[in-house]
Amino acid sequence: MRILVTGSGLLGSCMGLSYGKAHETTATYNRHPISIDGCGTEKLDICDAGAVEKIVSLTKPDIVFHTAANVDVDYCESHHEEAHAINAEGAANVAKACEKSGAMLVYISSDFVFDGKAGNYSEKDKINPINYYGQTKLEGEKAAMRECPDALIVRTSIYGLNPHGRNSFATWVTSSLSSGREIKVFNDMYFTPILTNSLAGILLSMAKSGASGIYNVAGVSSISKYDLALKVADAHGLDKNLIKPNSWRDAEFKAPRPVDVSLDCSKARSKFPGFLDYDESLKLMRSLSDGGYLKSFTIK
Ligand SMILES: NC(=O)c1ccc[n+]([C@@H]2O[C@H](COP(=O)([O-])OP(=O)(O)OC[C@H]3O[C@@H](n4cnc5c(N)ncnc54)[C@H](OP(=O)(O)O)[C@@H]3O)[C@@H](O)[C@H]2O)c1
Repeated sequence: MRILVTGSGLLGSCMGLSYGKAHETTATYNRHPISIDGCGTEKLDICDAGAVEKIVSLTKPDIVFHTAANVDVDYCESHHEEAHAINAEGAANVAKACEKSGAMLVYISSDFVFDGKAGNYSEKDKINPINYYGQTKLEGEKAAMRECPDALIVRTSIYGLNPHGRNSFATWVTSSLSSGREIKVFNDMYFTPILTNSLAGILLSMAKSGASGIYNVAGVSSISKYDLALKVADAHGLDKNLIKPNSWRDAEFKAPRPVDVSLDCSKARSKFPGFLDYDESLKLMRSLSDGGYLKSFTIK
């Protein structure tokens, strides 16, 4: 099978490495060149529709995992045009190229399509993004479904090891605590993040089975950021006393944040294996880190 992964950031790099072990896989980068063991890499700007079509006809993928996006929530809030061009129009370009070539599209969406007032959202719940990033991810979903009616749309929240050195939630906790830095973590903001390595495995099974439509694929239960930080500390044997609870109400964000974006993943969990609880997945993240996972990537 041939696989194309757009983007090679936190999630795309993990998919490239994981899928490249058994399938002919290409991952793309735009501004941050990378090489990934066992996976080809190509430059691509998804805002350039011709370039998207060219890479799809060059790599002839059976499945395209579209992870490329601008995920900086505060940046998107003050750069609407750019955010829209990448997250909405870029997604449309990828979807059009998939439809034209017959490739299956897996569009990676976000828990930020919800307003965070209720939490425990199912695939049927009302979408209502409260910041521009969430708005553009929703527009990307709509473009994917419009251009590629059989697309698989995955709403998620992620953490993991990032070869580019940018922190995700868990690595922010480990790097802070390892250097003895006290951190303040919200005990009243809830989410359901999943380890990128688990997500990559589940999504490949879903794609191979021909799943289509909207699925939540995320952590198995709602957890506050503070409680997850404590679990991260436990999994890494780090000092939990450095983690102090605080409230999102005391924080100042440029873009508003939804307070409870936990996702109900029972639809996906009833059909697909591979979901780990937080203790299991943090243990896996630690063993990957200790086992030299990041040595599989070279930042050029
Ligand atoms: N991170 C999260 O917490 C989170 C939560 C929910 C959903 N998601 C979704 O998961 C997906 C992956 O997120 P991530 O955390 O892996 O993001 P990331 O680490 O920031 O990586 C984003 C990737 O997109 C590429 N990209 C950006 N603009 C591009 C453009 N114009 N053309 C082509 N590629 C472009 C970047 O390439 P260069 O760096 O080379 O420019 C990078 O490889 C996104 O769709 C995001 O919306 C993420």
